[in-house]
Amino acid sequence: MAKINKDYTKLQSSYLFSTIAKKVNAYSAANPEADIIRLGIGDVTRPLTPTIIGALHSAVDEMADASTFRGYAPDLGYDFLRSAIADNDYKARGCDIDADEIFVSDGAKSDSGNIQEIFGRDNKIAVCDPVYPVYVDTNVMAGRSGSFDAATGKWSDIIYMPCTKETNFLPELPDKVPDLIYLCFPNNPSGATITKAALQEWVDYANKNGSIIIYDAAYEAYISEADIPHSIYECEGARTCAIELRSFSKNAGFTGVRLGFTVIPKDIVVEDVALHSLWARRHGTKYNGAPYIIQRAGEAVYSEAGKKEIRGLVDYYMNNASYIYNNLKAAGYEVSGGVNAPYIWLKTPDGMTSWDYFDYLLTEKNVVGTPGSGFGPSGEGYFRLTAFGDANKTIEAVNRICK
Ligand SMILES: Cc1ncc(COP(=O)(O)O)c(C=O)c1O
Repeated sequence: MAKINKDYTKLQSSYLFSTIAKKVNAYSAANPEADIIRLGIGDVTRPLTPTIIGALHSAVDEMADASTFRGYAPDLGYDFLRSAIADNDYKARGCDIDADEIFVSDGAKSDSGNIQEIFGRDNKIAVCDPVYPVYVDTNVMAGRSGSFDAATGKWSDIIYMPCTKETNFLPELPDKVPDLIYLCFPNNPSGATITKAALQEWVDYANKNGSIIIYDAAYEAYISEADIPHSIYECEGARTCAIELRSFSKNAGFTGVRLGFTVIPKDIVVEDVALHSLWARRHGTKYNGAPYIIQRAGEAVYSEAGKKEIRGLVDYYMNNASYIYNNLKAAGYEVSGGVNAPYIWLKTPDGMTSWDYFDYLLTEKNVVGTPGSGFGPSGEGYFRLTAFGDANKTIEAVNRICK
């Protein structure tokens, strides 16, 4: 008789964004005239830029001709894209990463969820609290979480690193040493960033203790200040302890196109095994490669015209971020993030819970955001607004909130 993976049954309710969508749909159905502005889910709204569209069109044309048609892509990615990534994202920043240490994928959600598969079930994981929920849920599915305590909102076998106002929304080095440490900077949901010196402490800690850092840099394109590292490989020693995840979703607007990559330096060796070869085996067995057409679009992101255009996209969203941040602050709200990240982290007013504030904004202001408590217990009393909306609608939403 077939048996299910019981770990899946431990997962807590539905995924955060499905719950939000259900609430918004129910409100919309009951109030069809309501002009709802969505600053909730971190999805982009601007179209792909001309250079990327051009690359997509010409790759499509190649597929129509027998002499340029492509079938299965190489499992780990086309060399043209892996080289463009290595040159532009790493070598140009002084990071020693080779093209064959880059694994092209369909995005950072899959990679951040799948990466745990190459680690044993008995690894102890540490996550920031609040956190991008995928890291926790995929470890629950894999049987690493232990049991859930509804009173604290925590899993018994997961180490939580609270990122609160007191810690400047940054994690502190845990007393109990984890085997795997998930870090995400610039951070989703809080928009916090880490300096190079502070990140270096994590790299040193991991190397000293034999831990592996899974570093999610999906929002690196939003960094505007100097001294904020774009890659963990800017830190000395990261080649022996850090895996980096990247995405084309938020820098180039590929949320619906799907493209990302994972970097695993060949120097990371665990129990005499190179993680690079384990991930290559995993990727090659379970994944048949991102589509040629999409990888050509990814390559275009690194062309001179592409770089200029995507800078324009990022600037558009960061103008929204500044508008949200400055106006809420001027109105007396406690806000952070929004400077090196497209997320604004807002303390809910009058001690409201995150979900009460969600309901209030939805029903009274017709604005949708994301309750901080959905990202972990330390997110309670906070609320996330994204800068990914249309500029005019963002202004309208902020004006409604401040009124
Ligand atoms: C921290 C973080 N990592 C990864 C992702 C997923 O990126 P992708 O669209 O490449 O799957 C997101 C998306 O919101 C994210 O916030």
